[in-house]
Amino acid sequence: MEIPVLNFDEIFKNLKNTSYPHQNSYVAMYSSWFGGIILHPQLMLIPIDDHMVHRGDGVFEAFKCVNGNIYQLDAHFNRLKNSLNKIQLTPPYPLEEIKEIVIKTIRSSGEKNCIIRLYVSRGPGDFSPKPEKSIGSQLYVVITKIEPTEERKRKTGCSLKISKVPTKDPFFATVKSCNYLQNVLMKMECHKLGVDYMINITEEGKIGEGATENFAIITRDNRFLTPPFDYILKGTTILRALNFAKEMVEQGLLKEAKTCDLYSEDLKDAKEILVFGTTMDVLPITTFEERAVGDGRPGKFYKLFFEKFIEDQTKNKEVLTPVWHDF
Ligand SMILES: Cc1ncc(COP(=O)(O)O)c(C=O)c1O
Repeated sequence: MEIPVLNFDEIFKNLKNTSYPHQNSYVAMYSSWFGGIILHPQLMLIPIDDHMVHRGDGVFEAFKCVNGNIYQLDAHFNRLKNSLNKIQLTPPYPLEEIKEIVIKTIRSSGEKNCIIRLYVSRGPGDFSPKPEKSIGSQLYVVITKIEPTEERKRKTGCSLKISKVPTKDPFFATVKSCNYLQNVLMKMECHKLGVDYMINITEEGKIGEGATENFAIITRDNRFLTPPFDYILKGTTILRALNFAKEMVEQGLLKEAKTCDLYSEDLKDAKEILVFGTTMDVLPITTFEERAVGDGRPGKFYKLFFEKFIEDQTKNKEVLTPVWHDF
């Protein structure tokens, strides 16, 4: 096989031919490396010597824009700050400036409903794992169109099984780092087993989290329980749901809403199991380990929580950041 040595022009010519269907949803990217916004998916590239690429040395956030308003931007930035602190990474710009970059990148995309993935990387500079070799941290913000949640998942509910992938050490589980191998392996299990979601479990048998989701149960006596955030990622969606649940306690709909250690038996006994995450907000789990949860149909609390999220994303100015008016 003959392998050509490419010049600059040939690379650009070849890049034009590197298109594939997924790219139709990549609508904009900000890159501190390129110093601006990119609208061509083929050019949404990062340097291979960025330590985020070869060592997973970086942190990220994923959040969404609904009808032109970013949902829970501050909650995501609080978690970003925590991740940055934990791996001692200073972003290239102050966080307030990064928020402005996010807003301007969404505007350039023209998309009012999109997912924003924000990466802060250690940056380029040799191929060793040594952070001090980096010439400076970088920021990449990618905007993609939102893929709607499958109707089936809301109508008939989702399936859940216990994962065989070992949980992360608590320190690493609580950083949203670009080191997501355990999470990837859990998604692989889902695919292989034909299951919607997997949930991990610690050596002591404590229920953890999904590949990229948090879980909660409604007990038969109407208590909302979710695992504590000291060995799983603090999901912005489950935190919001905990607030909704506390309101439901005040209204007398729930008896209690709190974090506590949960075991597989608690999930088997639950009246409802709910899964939470940025893209889908909340979904009902109707089978756990191939057995029906409750009466096997999406329950009353699933519907109540879903309504709360819709209301939050349409009306609640406290958690919405408008993208389309001027600074
Ligand atoms: C490991 C993990 N747990 C939980 C979540 C849910 O977090 P959020 O509700 O902020 O999307 C995520 C989000 O991607 C995640 O990666």
